Amino acid sequence: MKTLVVYYSRSGTTKKIAEEISKKAKCDIEEIVDNKNRKGIIGWLISGRDAHTKKLTTIKEMKTDPSKYDIVAIGTPIWAGLMAPAVRTYIDQNKGKFKNVGFFCTCSSSGDIKAFEDMEDYLGITPLSKLTITGKDLKSNYDSKIKDFIKGIK
Ligand SMILES: Cc1cc2nc3c(=O)[nH]c(=O)nc-3n(C[C@H](O)[C@H](O)[C@H](O)COP(=O)(O)O)c2cc1C
Repeated sequence: MKTLVVYYSRSGTTKKIAEEISKKAKCDIEEIVDNKNRKGIIGWLISGRDAHTKKLTTIKEMKTDPSKYDIVAIGTPIWAGLMAPAVRTYIDQNKGKFKNVGFFCTCSSSGDIKAFEDMEDYLGITPLSKLTITGKDLKSNYDSKIKDFIKGIK
């Protein structure tokens, strides 16, 4: 199975998990970069509103083509119980190009279930594997969660 990991990360947590997945699964990885400035408290507030209203954004052109992969693992931080706008935009721009998908997210505590349901609806594909890493997980050993997720995307 040829696997690709794509992810968006505002503050580095989802990036860290995405890199661990790609390293352990020995697969390609690419970051989704949002063109909108989301720094600071104003950025935080705007981001929460944008995610809640399911607003799209503009993202930097990606180098990888999801149609060239058997499975694409899509990673997002949870914002207001939903995916980040950059991930929604990536999905929007690539609809119809995915063969199989896996979803992973990082969050403080919750919102993953609703966000994954929305991602599945938006994409129209049921993910083969799902992974949530919470703030609590980050403080303990979450290796087995990553391993289980990888089993589903290899
Ligand atoms: C605008 C905004 C909204 C958030 N909403 C939620 C939420 O609904 N539930 C939750 O558990 N964490 C929420 N968080 C926390 C992030 O999901 C969490 O810190 C995540 O790991 C950040 O990932 P990143 O470092 O890759 O950007 C929110 C963070 C931001 C910036």
